[in-house]
Amino acid sequence: MIQALRGMNDIMDDEAKLYKKIIDVCEDTAKKYGYEYIEIPKLEETALFKRSVGESSDIVGKEMYQFTDKSGNDVCLRPEGTAGVVRAFIEHKMDRAGGVKKYFYHGSMFRYERPQKGRLREFHQFGIECFSEGSVYEDASVILMLSEILKKLDIEATLKINSLGDGDCMPKYREKLLKFLKENENELCSDCKRRISTNPIRVLDCKVEHCQKILQNAPLITENLNEICAGEFSKLQEILTANGVTFEVDPKLVRGLDYYTKTAFEFVSGEIGSQSAVGGGGRYDNLVAFLGGRPTFGVGFALGIERFMEILSSKESKQKRVGIYICALDKKYIDKIFKIGIDLRRNFKVEISYEAKNLQKHLKNADNKNAEIFLCMGENEAKNDELFMKNLIAKTNKNIKIAEILKEIR
Ligand code: HAM
Repeated sequence: MIQALRGMNDIMDDEAKLYKKIIDVCEDTAKKYGYEYIEIPKLEETALFKRSVGESSDIVGKEMYQFTDKSGNDVCLRPEGTAGVVRAFIEHKMDRAGGVKKYFYHGSMFRYERPQKGRLREFHQFGIECFSEGSVYEDASVILMLSEILKKLDIEATLKINSLGDGDCMPKYREKLLKFLKENENELCSDCKRRISTNPIRVLDCKVEHCQKILQNAPLITENLNEICAGEFSKLQEILTANGVTFEVDPKLVRGLDYYTKTAFEFVSGEIGSQSAVGGGGRYDNLVAFLGGRPTFGVGFALGIERFMEILSSKESKQKRVGIYICALDKKYIDKIFKIGIDLRRNFKVEISYEAKNLQKHLKNADNKNAEIFLCMGENEAKNDELFMKNLIAKTNKNIKIAEILKEIR
């Protein structure tokens, strides 16, 4: 049997409906903010991502689906959307046309990461990019848009913001940080040591506890911003607060892509596992010129559709869970559980399993049937006039007396 590649999922049935719902909400919101649809190729020249996302980033250094095509071109599947939209913007001479341009897009991105919950090799983003608008009000606007999308979909997430400075204050800060890192190099993990020479700012992002302890004393970018960047960062905070968006300033938020200047932000959810960033973005005022265009302001974000889907589907399945699934581990108890099930049907929706199966199989069936309460009789339970009860929403379980079943379920 040929199967889908590791880390690449089919999106079908209920998931496909959820995917469509998320896109619809995103598109509708982006259009209200004046953004227009853009579709760009999924395969680009590798050099585009090397120059924008950065050669020292993990995305380019370790995670690209890169190959030589039949004409000998060095190409790769896009790991993100910003670089391609910027390329299209320059290629179609929008940088010379003048005026603000705002685009939204959605589709597959590819990163050869180690797959785990919330981390795929082919995943989908909805993203927006705004060109030629240097005002910090647009930074606030894109954050407000993502916040609005989250609210419309009833997803709770914490907003973290930072400023990465500009071409004047960032290099000075980098030197300060580098000095600190070199002084503490021996104490840092091997990944940090490597990053000291490739991309020192990324050291701040290290998740190793021991490194984080040392980095507590590192100089912070927020204390090293020049007057313009500090002024814009505090204006951004003022606008967000005035518009009801709560946030945390995280001076160690550096993001995994090298093109950011000034504003950087991320929305993090406590409702999914360790891959908790549901969306992020920031300003990239040097990127258009860096890729060969006329100097042009840029700001945008992208959100991870699968991470949104995970949060929404676990909520929906919790909401959908209703009724009881009752079963037995041995066929000699089927008559007993059948009688109990019939009695319970006076008050509840009850699925009775007529077949004896092992616990795991029954639990899986109960899950598929979206039951809220799982009841099961095995040898011990039968001996003690009890049932094993599991609440499939709260994930708690205990043995209950059959005589007290109604009281326990209520
Ligand atoms: P990013 O933070 O790399 O930013 O990705 C945006 C979102 O994509 C993440 O917050 C996460 O939800 C999702 N994501 C990333 N990697 C994976 C993965 N392996 N599996 C599942 N979901 C994933 C960017 O890509 C920038 N282009 C955003 C941007 C636009 N900045 C300015 N404009």
